Amino acid sequence: MTGGSDFVVVANRLPVDLEKLPDGTSRWKRSPGGLVTALEPILRHNSGAWIGWPGVADVDVEPIIEGGIDLHPVRLSAQEVLDYYEGFSNDTLWPLYHDVIVKPKYVREWWTAYVEVNRRFAEATAKVAAEGAIVWVQDYQLQLVPKMLRMLRPDVTIGFFLHIPFPPVELFMQMPWRTEIVQGLLGADLIGFHLVGGAQNFLYLAKRLAGRQTSRGAVGIRNRLGEVQMGNRSVKVGAFPISIASNEIDELSKRKDIRERAQQIRKELGDPDKIILGVDRLDYTKGIDVRLDAVLELLAEHRMDPNRTVMLQLATPSRERVQSYIELRGHVEQQVGRINGEYGQVGHPVVHYLHRPIPRGELMAFMVAADVMMVTPLRDGMNLVAKEYVACHSDLHGALVLSEFAGAAAELIHSYLCNPHDLESVKDALESALTQDPETGRSRMRALRRQVLAHDVDRWARAFLGALEKSKSSNSVQ
Ligand code: ADP
Ligand code: G6P
Repeated sequence: MTGGSDFVVVANRLPVDLEKLPDGTSRWKRSPGGLVTALEPILRHNSGAWIGWPGVADVDVEPIIEGGIDLHPVRLSAQEVLDYYEGFSNDTLWPLYHDVIVKPKYVREWWTAYVEVNRRFAEATAKVAAEGAIVWVQDYQLQLVPKMLRMLRPDVTIGFFLHIPFPPVELFMQMPWRTEIVQGLLGADLIGFHLVGGAQNFLYLAKRLAGRQTSRGAVGIRNRLGEVQMGNRSVKVGAFPISIASNEIDELSKRKDIRERAQQIRKELGDPDKIILGVDRLDYTKGIDVRLDAVLELLAEHRMDPNRTVMLQLATPSRERVQSYIELRGHVEQQVGRINGEYGQVGHPVVHYLHRPIPRGELMAFMVAADVMMVTPLRDGMNLVAKEYVACHSDLHGALVLSEFAGAAAELIHSYLCNPHDLESVKDALESALTQDPETGRSRMRALRRQVLAHDVDRWARAFLGALEKSKSSNSVQ
């Protein structure tokens, strides 16, 4: 049972979602989230297959080539969308891995569905992968796939990358199915995290829960890779901070039409002195409420001029049937209403809020136009929006306010760092960003751009896939 693809990406979602139109026809649209932003250009530039869910329940879609990528849709039933996707993936794992910002729910039926759907992804992958293929499994929705796939296809080399934070040991230990998850991941040859801390947490758990010998010896120090012994096989574990197609975005943001659109946006907003921007999926991890609170208090303390400052919050709808997301939306919309009610003028709200995905070019124009970008997550694996903002500013204009709890904070040290759990810290960072002198701003942006342009997503993929190749050869020598 082998297929024809030498390189296979497996992710919960395909890079495009199937959209059913009112006239009964359907079309493909870009899927939300950072995983797709990062991996889509890699697959576009290298031939390979992508296995994933097309985003709607109960549809059978034949494999197709879309945007140059060989797509293999996996069907999910409406019940599986409830139990595996909205339930176990996004109401259990997502909050648990993001510092229990909301309380994770542990539901046995959800776990059963998670196992079942992971098996379906493993079987679909086994059919598509050629003899000896490289298979790259992505993210928290598919943590059991590495072990399941190894049992079906011991000939393939398996990498796994987690796009969200890997939690502290004390939190992970809450999970009723913790041992199964660790064992599922240990089916891979290489397991990648954004940060060294996540890799270390995992190594500790592999020893404690799976009883495996682990090392962070010489290899660990030199290449940031640890190792877990699995009989005659060893699993490498390391940190690979993800990034964006920096040069593509840099080029796009310099295009005349994008710069003209940025100027037009400024005009449409009433030509304010300062535009503050937020761009996120509408998710409680992102701290959208925190930044709105900061704006409200700065206005109340007369530290921000409501007539000369405009905030723009672009929020992509996300996981809209999960209760915690429903509540967040209500809260954010109430905050926007309150700020505008207290400080807006007719025809001139202080906060503009769009609850919809924005086309890529238009989004870049917003980033070019923004004087301050606010990225204030309570916890985030990396946060690509922060890097996109930097890539859009070849003009060296602008300032980035960044949460210390975003993975990106480890690299973007020249941003205005803040602690989103401390509102005064967020307010101070925002005020400093709004009032920075132009020379300081340019030198900070220059330093940020050096980091983002040199460490792009290609470099990330090369580092991961290079380490995966190495782990394959070291395992086959034994
Ligand atoms: P996450 O993966 O948790 O959603 P990231 O910041 O890593 O967070 O990635 C989000 C991606 O989605 C970025 O590429 C960003 O530009 C894009 N995005 C976020 N909000 C919007 C929006 N309102 N419209 C279009 N794209 C968006
Ligand atoms: C984050 C996750 C991805 C996920 C994306 C969008 O980036 O790491 O795995 O695809 O959010 O979320 P969604 O639930 O809409 O797929």
